[in-house]
Amino acid sequence: MRDAVRFMLGDELVRVSGISASLSVLDWLRGTARLTGTKEGCNEGDCGACTIVLVRPRHGRLDYRAVNACTLLVGMLDGAQVLTVEHLADGARLHMVQQAMVDAHGSQCGFCTPGFVMSLYARAKQPKSERVDAAEALAGNLCRCTGYAPIIRAAAMIDAHEAPDQWDRRSKETLARLEALHDGTTLCLGDGDTCFMAPASEDELAHLLVQHAGGKDAGRPTLVAGNTDVGLWINKKLMRLDPIFWLGGIDSLKQIAESNDHIEIGAGVTYSEAQAKLVGLFPETGALITRIGGVQVRNSGTVVGNIANGSPIGDMSPLLLAAGASLGLRRGEHRRKLALDEFFLSYGVQDRAPDEFITHVSVPRLKPGAVLKAWKISKRADQDISCVMMAVWLDYDGARINDIRLAFGGMAGVVCRARACEARLRGGPWTRQTLAAAQAQLREELQPISDMRASAGYRLDVACNLLERLYIETVERAPTRLPDASLA
Ligand SMILES: Cc1cc2nc3c(=O)[nH]c(=O)nc-3n(C[C@H](O)[C@H](O)[C@H](O)COP(=O)(O)OP(=O)(O)OC[C@H]3O[C@@H](n4cnc5c(N)ncnc54)[C@H](O)[C@@H]3O)c2cc1C
Ligand code: FES
Ligand code: FES
Repeated sequence: MRDAVRFMLGDELVRVSGISASLSVLDWLRGTARLTGTKEGCNEGDCGACTIVLVRPRHGRLDYRAVNACTLLVGMLDGAQVLTVEHLADGARLHMVQQAMVDAHGSQCGFCTPGFVMSLYARAKQPKSERVDAAEALAGNLCRCTGYAPIIRAAAMIDAHEAPDQWDRRSKETLARLEALHDGTTLCLGDGDTCFMAPASEDELAHLLVQHAGGKDAGRPTLVAGNTDVGLWINKKLMRLDPIFWLGGIDSLKQIAESNDHIEIGAGVTYSEAQAKLVGLFPETGALITRIGGVQVRNSGTVVGNIANGSPIGDMSPLLLAAGASLGLRRGEHRRKLALDEFFLSYGVQDRAPDEFITHVSVPRLKPGAVLKAWKISKRADQDISCVMMAVWLDYDGARINDIRLAFGGMAGVVCRARACEARLRGGPWTRQTLAAAQAQLREELQPISDMRASAGYRLDVACNLLERLYIETVERAPTRLPDASLA
């Protein structure tokens, strides 16, 4: 067992011990390492001012990812290289990304600019074939004063004039140094008052959870995967969490396993890692995943974390409910499988014991003839939480609906299926008449609340309109968006 987190800060190997379990990387960088180029804007993952780049070995090469330092705990740096805006220039020479920002007049105020630079840098480090467009890469970086156009022009300049930088020239050496840090030991970091543990295996996590079972609320372990939800409890609700068990040290939870009829997404798999597989399974839902947070959130947040938090407005749960997914859970040596349908019991309550954890979510492939569609309605296109999210799995033969699953977020205290509406649609012809009856049923069945995101009436109207959209797309086969609309 190790009591120090080890990572590379730029080129320097750093060991940190004796810190609070919930110390954020942002506070450590600014307060201890005195690297103040990384800024604090919102301290809740929204603005991107704190964007840094984490580098980890992946499939034999270095993988560069933009992440928000404010929702990252120092223990989560274990085994990574951290690059901040201070690490880009090579001596007195600006990095090509910085130079492009200067040349394109993209440099703005001191709060947002370092974050923009780091997001562009992470994008430039992706192989060209995998590079997302600049607008998508910058969706997690907010500026409310000036404009994005010069920054997008800077991204185009970078694409046109790329050349290896100092870190590329050292990549072999860095890869070897990072791989050497991955020694399968468990990390136990703390200041005598709080404790952050990164178990090295599922067995160890299972054992630790059972050992801590029965603790009072204050002493109950908090599981952390990407910390994009839990980080806000720490930063905004000022919750004291002790102990924290981080899943990121467990290789077996970071796998995506595939078989003929389903894929299994491990509890440590981020949105970014799962995205290609999910889009491959459900091609019509691709736009949804790119609208979950910004790139920084998707590089940290996990698919399973989105289910486990039980949020009624989470986006993955309706999608996976409609898909007919199930969960793998483990408590001590006991493993069980649970239909996702049965996991959400009531607001804030899920069918999971305090000493139990989710190992994976199992997602069935589509059977021939079936389709899965999902639509997210939110006030802003990028980096916003859903007012209403509807996902539908449909087996329609051109005349009759053979089977249907309709799942909603934002329409009740939990994500839910509209079962009575499904029953009305199942087995019948798919006509305007059936649509009207199904919409009336939806209005009876769903009881959304009014809150700052939307009123109950608006939510019901949206749900009914989305059902009509389904009808138009599947029966009339007419477009439901203006040709130049950027949202799917
Ligand atoms: C700026 C921002 C934008 C966001 N945008 C969206 C959005 O558009 N749509 C959306 O749905 N969500 C959004 N989120 C919420 C969040 O990113 C997701 O819910 C994410 O999937 C959570 O995953 P995580 O790995 O970060 O979970 P964590 O924060 O690590 O954990 C979340 C919860 O799950 C529990 N948990 C985690 N793993 C397990 C496990 N294996 N077994 C049991 N319990 C577990 C934790 O104890 C905690 O209660 C956003 C968050 C931020 C900060
Ligand atoms: S400070 Fe705003 S995302 Fe971290
Ligand atoms: S926030 Fe920096 S210029 Fe707008």
